Amino acid sequence: MVCLGNICRSPLAEGLLKKKIDANALDWTVDSCGTADYHVGSPPDKRMIKIAAAFHTDISNLRSRQFSLSDFEKFDLIYAMDKSNYRNIIELAKNNYQRNKVHLLLNEWKFGQNLEVPDPYYGSEQDFINVYNLLDEALDSLLNNRNVKK
Ligand code: 4NP
Repeated sequence: MVCLGNICRSPLAEGLLKKKIDANALDWTVDSCGTADYHVGSPPDKRMIKIAAAFHTDISNLRSRQFSLSDFEKFDLIYAMDKSNYRNIIELAKNNYQRNKVHLLLNEWKFGQNLEVPDPYYGSEQDFINVYNLLDEALDSLLNNRNVKK
């Protein structure tokens, strides 16, 4: 799960997906990171931690890291939150095998529409709640699309 700073959208995506994976007794490895290095080593944004906690998801122990070329090898699927993140990862890919791993997350929910999870960093509490709702829907779709019972 990849966003820009790895302190708002992608840590919530990581926390929520891990919860859904546990609920489905799956053996998946999930991680998140940012395309930028502004917040490396920092915990998620307090506003995101608060919203996550309100929905019974603890993301307070996560720490920001930057996307690494080794992620192309470690992971089968790489989900970008928005088109800018998507382009930045694609630019780092060395071949089609790596490029084909990269997707916009919301295309799991609304296939082919290329919708984005909006960056809430300069937004309101409602923008953070909107991120939660989008991610919850999209991650349920991801599990369904991969034929996993909810
Ligand atoms: P994120 O949000 O990409 O969802 O983690 C942002 C966090 C920090 C900044 C931008 C977006 N920033 O400009 O520092």
